[in-house]
Amino acid sequence: MEKQRTVAIPAEAELARQMEYIRQIRQQNDEYFKKTGEQKKFYSLAMGCQMNAHDSEKLEGMLDEMGYIRTEEETDADFIIYNTCCVRENAELKVYGKLGWLKHYKESKNPNAIVALCGCMMQQDTVLETIRKKYRHVDLVFGTFNLYKLPELILARQESGSTIFDIWQQQEEIVEDLPSIRHFPYKASVNIMFGCNNFCSYCIVPYVRGRERSREPEDILQEIRALAADGVKEVMLLGQNVNSYGKTLEHPVSFAQLLRMVNEIDGIERIRFMTSHPKDMSDELIQAMKECDKVCKNLHLPFQSGSTEILRRMNRKYTKEDYLELVRKVKEAMPGITLSTDIIVGFPGETEEDFQETLDVIRKVRYCTAFTFIYSKRTGTPAATMENQVPEDVVKDRFDRMLHVLNPIVHEVSEEQVGRTVLVLAEEVNKQDEHILTGRTEENGLVHFAGDKSLIGQMVPVKIIENKTFYFIGERV
Ligand code: SAH
Ligand code: SF4
Ligand code: F3S
Repeated sequence: MEKQRTVAIPAEAELARQMEYIRQIRQQNDEYFKKTGEQKKFYSLAMGCQMNAHDSEKLEGMLDEMGYIRTEEETDADFIIYNTCCVRENAELKVYGKLGWLKHYKESKNPNAIVALCGCMMQQDTVLETIRKKYRHVDLVFGTFNLYKLPELILARQESGSTIFDIWQQQEEIVEDLPSIRHFPYKASVNIMFGCNNFCSYCIVPYVRGRERSREPEDILQEIRALAADGVKEVMLLGQNVNSYGKTLEHPVSFAQLLRMVNEIDGIERIRFMTSHPKDMSDELIQAMKECDKVCKNLHLPFQSGSTEILRRMNRKYTKEDYLELVRKVKEAMPGITLSTDIIVGFPGETEEDFQETLDVIRKVRYCTAFTFIYSKRTGTPAATMENQVPEDVVKDRFDRMLHVLNPIVHEVSEEQVGRTVLVLAEEVNKQDEHILTGRTEENGLVHFAGDKSLIGQMVPVKIIENKTFYFIGERV
């Protein structure tokens, strides 16, 4: 993986402190290299959403500065870090599975390996208790608010000789400008806000990510200008609910205004954002999307359920009709725009009629992709104690029936792209065949096409010739 550095800081003094710890660890690692001829290796796994992945880019940037080199093999690492997710139970089970394996790894292969756990799952007391009791081979545990302290925590671990737990309940300050390693050279994620205030009744994110905090527009713009100067062409603006960006700033700025400012930055050719909450999607924002030539005409607009009653109990603050009307306005303003969504099946009390409403929204909106989830009970959320939890077999059956409705629609919507010539940002060489490149269209469709790797990072005109439902085959023109 190619390394791309950018500078993204905790509050300045804090950053300076951590940079000093980084220097000390680097010295140790350099000495180790002189003695053994081997470089210490790190393995990093992001297990959650795009924010989680972006946090990992910062962790990796710090580890790189400390003189660790990346390995893709867990079984070969001296430092292993899992950035965890807890949005659904599956995500947590995966972490416990890994921890079981790691115990064996440390005992049998590398007793000096450092194991670090961080991210959303660590913000829950019950999880910390379990780790204290059952997984004593973990070395470092920290949460979502203090990831910039990684260097300090590594040193603290060396000194104390026992597991370090450092979990904060809220953010003190937004630490800007941490070192970071981007996963892609030509596209980058940029946090515009942290946390969430919405408290959808099923969702644990507000409890583990804290209240909504927006970054200052000038900090965001400066970061994007630096990315553009470093060759980045596409930025993804990240927040749990980008549509409410800027409301809590001293000088409030709307998300629509921010989009217009980002649109002015030279060198940036594409702007994406996620996630939009339907309740905050204003006419001003639709207008800004329409008028900003760099904003991709693709919108991720989760609806979760088509039933107004379920939406009310989910605390989503819109009705089925509000949602459909919003989609109508978006499509009218931007013909050809593609929409994607998130859907939950089996929320407590969901009846067959409620479920039919969900299918109705799928049929009416016609999504290009949808992320579909079976409701997962999250302890501490209001939905967890609601009556009428839907039996597993009923949910499973609904989930399958939903895919039967959804997949043909996704196929048909994709079919509309066939024959078009579009610009594809060439991102990577295909892993199986080095003559094939992979990239994305403005509408976020994945395209494989024959081309030389020198094209990577360019906007390549490609004719879409075949629709494979979840990706396309294209031909350079
Ligand atoms: N902030 C974003 C989404 C964050 S979580 C938004 O509001 O759209 C991503 C998706 O996970 C959610 O959209 C929802 O569909 C799903 N999700 C969240 N909590 C869940 C739960 N308890 N069970 C199943 N799916 C859940
Ligand atoms: Fe969770 Fe709702 Fe916030 Fe999204 S908007 S993160 S679903 S509480
Ligand atoms: Fe993301 Fe999972 Fe946390 S979805 S915000 S990593 S709980």
